[in-house]
Amino acid sequence: MSTLANDTTTVAATTAAPAAAVTARGVERRFGDRTVLRGIDLTVAPGEFVVIVGQSGCGKSTLLRAIGALDSGYEGTIDVDGRVAFGFQDARLLPWAHVWENVVFGVSGKKAQLRERAIKALADVGLENHADAWPGTLSGGEAQRVALARALTRDPSVLLLDEPFGALDALTRLRMQALVSGLWRERGFSVLLVTHDVEEAILLADRIAVLDRGVVADLFEVGMPRPRSRRDERFEQLRVRILEDLGVSDVDASLSAHDG
Ligand SMILES: Nc1ncnc2c1ncn2[C@@H]1O[C@H](COP(=O)(O)OP(=O)(O)OP(=O)(O)O)[C@@H](O)[C@H]1O
Ligand SMILES: [Mg+2]
Repeated sequence: MSTLANDTTTVAATTAAPAAAVTARGVERRFGDRTVLRGIDLTVAPGEFVVIVGQSGCGKSTLLRAIGALDSGYEGTIDVDGRVAFGFQDARLLPWAHVWENVVFGVSGKKAQLRERAIKALADVGLENHADAWPGTLSGGEAQRVALARALTRDPSVLLLDEPFGALDALTRLRMQALVSGLWRERGFSVLLVTHDVEEAILLADRIAVLDRGVVADLFEVGMPRPRSRRDERFEQLRVRILEDLGVSDVDASLSAHDG
């Protein structure tokens, strides 16, 4: 992380806290006369894993889109140090392009080099043998892994993930969580992940931000060694606290876990 005196980001931050991978200050977003984000303050440290939870419609995706520069209609400031890559709930693969071409779609370079780069990224997610397959032949979990390879091939400093496991069955979801967690530890990029799954948040995050009514209503330091166990006392305490923040009772949560 650069701390050079002539670095503009550093000059702007002379009075602020240590360098961050993502800094959002006073971020507001209105759609017509409706204000969705009302002054979001959030930082992600280099190499940190931050998870955002919040009720449906509270503005999680809106915030992630602003941070990922997919939306510029906000007020306030957002600074991102380095390259950003995005992963969504649906894998968003192009059906008419081979898996490897999807991985490097939009990246310029010679075909042979791009293919090599794609296969390397596919190997990271255990799919190098699917390089020449069509996206339509992949399972949901495999398609998500291709999307993850596509994000990784950008060599991001910040990985933004919007409910990346939301459409997956429970078992595939656990595998994907372990995969993302492993890659994150290995590569050292920062992750900002949105989920509605409180347990997923506690399993993965360094810190958990609860979004409510357009602000960061609560911020939890998870502070548990990895790999984490649901049987840990701290896990249960956090789970109950966060569910309370979300206005969901334990009974509601277990019902929806069985539904999902
Ligand atoms: N382009 C847009 N135009 C108008 N309203 C929008 C737009 N994008 C988002 N909104 C509104 O902003 C609110 C927040 O949307 P957002 O997608 O950020 O919610 P979310 O927290 O990600 O919800 P979910 O958990 O269901 O994905 C919603 O009420 C949505 O209808
Ligand atoms: Mg959303």
